[in-house]
Amino acid sequence: MVGYRDEGRSGGYQANGYGAYGAYGGRGGAQAGGGYGGFRGAGGGGGSGGSSWRDKDSQPGENLRRPKWETIKLLEFEKNFYKEHSAVTKRSAMEVETYLKENDVTVRGRDVPRPVLNFSEAGLPDDMLAHVCENFEKPTVIQSISWPVAMSGRDMVGIAQTGSGKTLAFLLPGIVHICQQPPLSRGDGPICLVLCPTRELAQQVQEVAMEYGSRAKLNSTCIYGGASRGPQHRDLTKGIEICIATPGRLIDFLESGATNLRRCTYLVLDEADRMLDMGFEPQIRKIVEQIRPDRQTLMYSATWPKEVRQLADDFLSNNVHVNIGSLELAANHNIRQVVEVVEEFEKHERLLKMLEELTRAGEPKILIFVETKRKADELTRWMRRDGWPTLSIHGDKAQQERDFVLSEFRQGRSPILIATDVAARGLDVDDIKCVINYDYPNCSEDYVHRIGRTGRRDKKGTSYTFFTSANAKSAQDLIKVLEEAGQDVNPKLYNLVEIGKNMRGRGRGRWRSEDDGYRGGGGGGFRGGKRGATDDYGGGSAKRGRFDGGGRGGYGNSNGYNNRGFGGMQNSSNGAASSYSQAGKPQSLLSVAAPVGGTRW
Ligand SMILES: Nc1ncnc2c1ncn2[C@@H]1O[C@H](COP(=O)(O)OP(=O)(O)OP(=O)(O)O)[C@@H](O)[C@H]1O
Ligand SMILES: [Mg+2]
Repeated sequence: MVGYRDEGRSGGYQANGYGAYGAYGGRGGAQAGGGYGGFRGAGGGGGSGGSSWRDKDSQPGENLRRPKWETIKLLEFEKNFYKEHSAVTKRSAMEVETYLKENDVTVRGRDVPRPVLNFSEAGLPDDMLAHVCENFEKPTVIQSISWPVAMSGRDMVGIAQTGSGKTLAFLLPGIVHICQQPPLSRGDGPICLVLCPTRELAQQVQEVAMEYGSRAKLNSTCIYGGASRGPQHRDLTKGIEICIATPGRLIDFLESGATNLRRCTYLVLDEADRMLDMGFEPQIRKIVEQIRPDRQTLMYSATWPKEVRQLADDFLSNNVHVNIGSLELAANHNIRQVVEVVEEFEKHERLLKMLEELTRAGEPKILIFVETKRKADELTRWMRRDGWPTLSIHGDKAQQERDFVLSEFRQGRSPILIATDVAARGLDVDDIKCVINYDYPNCSEDYVHRIGRTGRRDKKGTSYTFFTSANAKSAQDLIKVLEEAGQDVNPKLYNLVEIGKNMRGRGRGRWRSEDDGYRGGGGGGFRGGKRGATDDYGGGSAKRGRFDGGGRGGYGNSNGYNNRGFGGMQNSSNGAASSYSQAGKPQSLLSVAAPVGGTRW
């Protein structure tokens, strides 16, 4: 059978019947008898209270105790709500195969339910169906395959290109799952938990959860570091069915007993390979061990490096693995990828030329990635002095500034954003036409995610990447990604492959150093080396925030924004500064963000 790898005797799509779930009486059969007793002892150990800043040496969650699940009698819960639509059942095996083949789908696992080819086949509740139909024409491929699997209660790994709608692939079945559980009682924590690597991504996912969940009268909240704890605490104690969280702050709340995961039966790791890498894995373990073992677990990403595959199995059982597109590292084919091999000292000038060309062509939003926070600040200063409407985002900035900057960029008021890898994953910003890798990232997975900020949905985009001999160790990977996507390969890259092979010990280090941005160096290899504070744990950003001090040098330089080209951008006489102050935000922000009013920006 095409597009599907048989993992064993009984793997994959069944030739007949597909789905083996006919016996379930469909949705609506919520379990009787709530209560969820029997969990005593499952809570955390009290703990560190509300301290915002964790001692540098203490481990997140060290006061959390793993419940002895073996000895706890758990109330049963239902997780299979899927009833195959008659149109899906009637579809011939050939049609299904053709769909899988055309869309380059690979599925592994036992008794995998068939894909649904349109919204009405998905078995979504009526109001959810109506809303999704209002927004979109048909499910994306990952949605078509995921929904039946997820609604059948199966654990799954879903790997699909950037911008392909993975968020709804896991959120809608999550909402269906919640609606079939007994209502929350006082003191209950969330039923659906989505873990994300960055605060901005968590907020974005929560917006989608709110949009769809509120129609089912579900409450959701977003738990992340760097923002004040009070409102988050209030939400948690009020009772929320859906919690989107970054790991560090969630662990804090679990330790302090502000919430618990005793009711959690639907767990998602978004950007799962990132969540399982060394920076996050211990925190993920801490969290997951608070959740009953018979939960449903789903993992999604656009990349699935070998190094995390085995680790993922620790958290999954009898899972279905779905892969759309190449089984190797691959970029979204909507993106035109251009690689320039340059010397480090040439980058500035080259960037300038590139920006001039792009703005002449009227590219509305440009996202520029650099390796370190310091570099982000320096480049921003330099560009602003030269008149480019630029803001930057990285892990040393206070959350308020991060939120502001992203919002300015989203709304097109500040069309150039300079970022570290804090913006590499998951962010869905309309109309980024171009991503520039000023510095090549430390691992090629990050390259795929970074450039994936453009070319989302069915849109096209372009990425430009500066590649130096110092990046030679990644040349081979990059060539493969380019070739897989049918892109021209800069011949100079081939010359660097040999050099790269000799750069031993600097292998595929992915660990973020204290200075952010996945520095390579020491260790090499996936699990070697040490990553510094992860982006979201403990809110290091605010602690080190340099915000209130009036920014850093060149910010607010009044040379700003001298009507650079950017043809085609709307005229915006109230630049970021005025619109921001109108919003009543603290003045200190303006020291960083203030462009000169009265310009096109
Ligand atoms: N069925 C659909 N048809 C068209 N667009 C969709 C559909 N479902 C979701 N989208 C839109 O596609 C965009 C990308 O979705 P999403 O952010 O979930 O992608 P993703 O696969 O998670 O990407 P990434 O790997 O970068 O995280 C969003 O704007 C979303 O609203
Ligand atoms: Mg996503």
